[in-house]
Amino acid sequence: MSMRSFLPGILALAIVSCTNNPSKEKQTMSPTEEAMKTGQDPHSYAKADAKVSHLNWIADVDFDNKKIKAVANWTIETQSGATDIYFDIYDLQIDSVLVDGANTNYALSPFDEHLGQGLRIPISESAKQVSIYYSTGDDARALQWLDPGQTADKSHPFLFTQSQAILARSWVPTQDSPGIRFTYDAKVNVPKDMMALMSASNPMELSDDGSYKFEMPQAIPSYLLAMAVGNVRFEAISDRTGVYAEPSLLDTSAYEFADLEKMVQAAEALYGPYAWGRYDLIVLPPSFPFGGMENPRLTFATPTILAGDRSLVSLVAHELAHSWSGNLVTNATWDDFWLNEGFTVYFEQRIMEAVYGREYSEMLASLTRAGLLEAAAEMLEEMPNDTKLKLDLEGRNPDDGVTSIPYDKGYFFLRLMEETVGRERFDDFLKNYFQGHKFQVMTTEEFLAYLKENLLSEEEYAQIRVDEWIYETGIPDNLPVVESDRFKKVDAALASFMETGKLPASEQTEAWTTHEWLHFINSLPETINLEQLTALDEAYGLSQSGNSEISAAWFQPTIAAGYEAVYPKVESFLTSVGRRKFLTPTYKALLGAKQDQLARDIYAKARPNYHAVSRETMDDLLGWEG
Ligand code: BES
Ligand code: ZN
Repeated sequence: MSMRSFLPGILALAIVSCTNNPSKEKQTMSPTEEAMKTGQDPHSYAKADAKVSHLNWIADVDFDNKKIKAVANWTIETQSGATDIYFDIYDLQIDSVLVDGANTNYALSPFDEHLGQGLRIPISESAKQVSIYYSTGDDARALQWLDPGQTADKSHPFLFTQSQAILARSWVPTQDSPGIRFTYDAKVNVPKDMMALMSASNPMELSDDGSYKFEMPQAIPSYLLAMAVGNVRFEAISDRTGVYAEPSLLDTSAYEFADLEKMVQAAEALYGPYAWGRYDLIVLPPSFPFGGMENPRLTFATPTILAGDRSLVSLVAHELAHSWSGNLVTNATWDDFWLNEGFTVYFEQRIMEAVYGREYSEMLASLTRAGLLEAAAEMLEEMPNDTKLKLDLEGRNPDDGVTSIPYDKGYFFLRLMEETVGRERFDDFLKNYFQGHKFQVMTTEEFLAYLKENLLSEEEYAQIRVDEWIYETGIPDNLPVVESDRFKKVDAALASFMETGKLPASEQTEAWTTHEWLHFINSLPETINLEQLTALDEAYGLSQSGNSEISAAWFQPTIAAGYEAVYPKVESFLTSVGRRKFLTPTYKALLGAKQDQLARDIYAKARPNYHAVSRETMDDLLGWEG
């Protein structure tokens, strides 16, 4: 690495200050930048010869200025010959850098729209500690600072982080690659009447002075660094599980997640002991851009799963499953993302089956299968290469890889293996896989080698068509079939309604779960007309559903058919919920129905409340500029 590619400390500061509002224009990456990156992970500047092993983080959370001011004291491990250590940062203001207590020069690479900047710090081979004093910028994409009005109780502000995939670097200078793990401890100061929580050991009560200490003795990659600060309280569910939520949502949340302990037990019975101590959950404000995030010890969850009837708790099973698939055995790069998510959907299904029975879990699998086929058909037109399990995200935002493919194609690939070799052999294999690779990373190629060695005969490998599943586009035609008797009854009721106009009887629909409703709504034919939609809405109050999944599903056929009665509900939904999984299809439906103006009007109101992650996707979708 030539010195010319980096600017010395003093100049670097100047560059940092002009990247506070980094331009969103696409910049091509210079060859030097390419070379700076590891061969392994195209989304990090970190190099193999100098890696972090522990973080001591001391931070002040300043709600007035919407900034975190902190020092990251990193313990490092170097290989002989190491001359520099590289960190990833995004819109951080670096104040000073110390190596083993001595002030040091440092250098920054040019700003890249996805990667941010590489921070290069010269070290000697024997260096042990690097301290980085910094504060976060206005464009800290991991952070969402909420005003009281954006929370359930409207009384206190709220802050939460979302580090996956490569956003941790916007609130901590870190080696932001899933292949680099570290333990951490932290001391965080927040306003006196608020609680701070992290992906670590957590308080159960408010502290007197707003100061909180955290320990994370198990090593994690930086995408699992997380923090939430708000007016939240804790309620225990069992000795080792519980829920944090704003006071007005605490009881509702504890009711919704009452089966948490059962789920942990079911998971442990399948694939071995839970490795992280406690398993708690925090219910975040509705702008949280995901359904859930598997932050170790403390899953972050959207309030849109508080359905009142526990019908959406498969999301909790999913995040819990990540405690093995993802958090214990971690995808080496974001190209291997299916190793995290496909395994997790498979494991989620198994937990749901263990706790609620096969008939129930097969309804979920059936919905997943239909969703996968629809998504894959659309993607084959627009971005066929992203329908491969093994992705190629170099030079792109890893967020582009977050589609149904790693999740649901991944799931059905694993299910096909289970069906081919039998459950007993497959479970044995998975248990050994998790135990044998815990706290390690996995590439797709290593997994395939392990699979050949430990599970599949050559014949089985060929019969499953493993390489086609992993490396080719589309969905192979040996996709497992899902049979659900309960859904067959729904199909019959729908067919009769479409043929004769006879509404499904209330004795029948009263026994329908959320999943039967979803299947019913998703199966409505494109030819359904306004009169039929009106009849269904009048009979079952679908536009008034308090269940977020049912609402989002119902928006599809109604928006497509121009059923205007649903528009106010669409608007209130889109302006109160920031979960991307719901936003994308709903805005798409509006565009598809030539309601571009309505979509843009709603978006103009809603956008300030969305998290950067959702905003980025919706800006693209709606061609939004400033
Ligand atoms: N780890 C993901 C969320 C994620 C993925 C965030 C990639 C950023 C980048 C989480 O476990 C997840 O999959 N959430 C889903 C839950 C669903 C599949 C049950 C979600 O948010 O919808
Ligand atoms: Zn997941």
